[in-house]
Amino acid sequence: MLRKNNVRRFAAMKKQGEKISMLTGYDYMWGSLLDEAGVDIILVGDSLGNVVLGYDTTCPVTMDDMVRHTAAVSRGAARSFVLGDMPFLTANLGTVEAVRNAGRFLSEGGANGVKLEGGEPMAGVIRAIVDAGIPVCAHIGLRPQSVNLQGYVTQGVSEESREQLKKDALAVERAGAFAVVLEKVEPALAGEITDMLSIPTIGIGSGPRCDGQVLVVHDMLGVYDKAPSFVKKYANIRDIILDAVSAYDREVKQGVFPEAKDADNK
Ligand code: KIV
Repeated sequence: MLRKNNVRRFAAMKKQGEKISMLTGYDYMWGSLLDEAGVDIILVGDSLGNVVLGYDTTCPVTMDDMVRHTAAVSRGAARSFVLGDMPFLTANLGTVEAVRNAGRFLSEGGANGVKLEGGEPMAGVIRAIVDAGIPVCAHIGLRPQSVNLQGYVTQGVSEESREQLKKDALAVERAGAFAVVLEKVEPALAGEITDMLSIPTIGIGSGPRCDGQVLVVHDMLGVYDKAPSFVKKYANIRDIILDAVSAYDREVKQGVFPEAKDADNK
């Protein structure tokens, strides 16, 4: 039987200098494909608000959206650790509500842990969720749910923000987080934070010195046409889909498909 990845393995990977791969996935198909490809962690990111639901930001995404998509991913993921992303305000309105919302990812979504945005100010909430038996991955640096405050710019440029990011990283580690996402953190600082922590750092747009990397799957496969510029494109699936769908559209309209033999079910 395939063994499910777990937080103890990620701690050991950090110790042994083994890198951790994380990609986002949003439904059964992505869950099963990423799992088969060997991705360590599938993040059911609230980026589904952008790439699946077509919103401009992640702020409109709801708990019900996240739980439904997390459950679909979990049904496809035999070995990969499934991480559910707590959407806007669902971890900020009191500890009891945060623990209840985090719990839904496991009880209804079949997830193995949750991710939440925020550093030092979220330490108490992280501690309460971990105490409830739920692994937490923190997310600091650029926090898309705070786009209206931060914009989408590199974090940790001024001395003051560098110091705050180090405090955030230490606070979430102390609170019991098993890992921390560093989004668009100035790369030298991301490296410093990685060396400072005993838990793994997972970078996105934060350079190579993190313990692992995460990307939005639609961005790295070249499906989403608004991907950030730092994303490496491993394929150009958008063009493949457009070519195939236009060929189908043309053939249906020209009466070329189906041919009589296509209708023969024998
Ligand atoms: O929602 C998401 O996909 C994320 C990653 C980009 C880290 O938070």
